[in-house]
Amino acid sequence: MSTILVTGGTGALGREVVPRLLAAGCQVRVLSRRPRRDDDPAGTQWMVGDLRTGAGLDTAVRDAAVVVHCASDPRRPRSDLGAARNLIDAARANGNPHLVYVSIVGVDRVPLGYYRIKLTVEQLVENSGLPWTILRATQFHDLICYLFQLLARLPVLMIPAGVSFQPVDTGDVAARLTALALGDPAGRAADFGGPRVQSTAELARAWLRATGRRRRLLNVRLPGKAFRGYRDGGNVAPSHADGKVGFEEFLREHVSPSARSAAYGRLRAGRGPR
Ligand SMILES: NC(=O)c1ccc[n+]([C@@H]2O[C@H](COP(=O)([O-])OP(=O)(O)OC[C@H]3O[C@@H](n4cnc5c(N)ncnc54)[C@H](OP(=O)(O)O)[C@@H]3O)[C@@H](O)[C@H]2O)c1
Repeated sequence: MSTILVTGGTGALGREVVPRLLAAGCQVRVLSRRPRRDDDPAGTQWMVGDLRTGAGLDTAVRDAAVVVHCASDPRRPRSDLGAARNLIDAARANGNPHLVYVSIVGVDRVPLGYYRIKLTVEQLVENSGLPWTILRATQFHDLICYLFQLLARLPVLMIPAGVSFQPVDTGDVAARLTALALGDPAGRAADFGGPRVQSTAELARAWLRATGRRRRLLNVRLPGKAFRGYRDGGNVAPSHADGKVGFEEFLREHVSPSARSAAYGRLRAGRGPR
């Protein structure tokens, strides 16, 4: 039974990866800055540690065959660099495990600060001397919901004109990530996108319907290179529409007008966008 460490195993994606690895018969360690809670998955080894300071990393990585690196701190994006360096150092000092990193489609095409950091982390992984795999995924459904929730604070829903997304389900991404973690190091794996590329207006209308809100949509052409990158489709991967669960299906399962505020994790946990 191989031992796999999942960083970010408490996050939106990591929570989906952990049970899949357990089901595959792996011994799973979860790295978190906090102690285990009752609602955390049973059957895992809980490793308290902090990627930013490096605390607890040697113990967490020791004898692991694979490290799946899902942790990220978009509120302090630069800290992802130090976190990756600390993780790589610990991995190199503790048996050179296969390092699997999850990144974002378009980190090299959309010049957002957070994306630049993710691209630099990709380069750290590639040059780490460790066996490595990088999977880039499109935006998760719950992130799109989170963004609409923020925009809906105004009486008019302002949406970026000409921008589309290809939202993907964290369960679908987790299944691909699990397969990659159980396989040989693959280098840059094929991108992973949701089943459909949809305009922001189409997604917004679906979200408004699902949450029972009424807002007029206002298309706004936003300036800047980052929005040009989005308008040019830098954030989508139409030839890799491999996800199964579409945005509307996600909404049906996770959002209801009666609940009004959604059941998706990011809002509950108060985490920010990425
Ligand atoms: N959201 C999207 O649309 C999207 C799309 C493509 C790729 N991605 C990438 O997928 C990955 C996972 O995203 P997510 O949305 O699942 O993240 P998330 O829900 O925000 O979770 C972040 C995780 O990072 C951990 N973490 C943060 N700082 C840490 C630190 N200093 N030490 C240890 N752990 C730390 C947190 O663990 P604790 O709080 O328990 O310590 C938490 O489990 C990220 O790399 C993200 O860039 C996201």
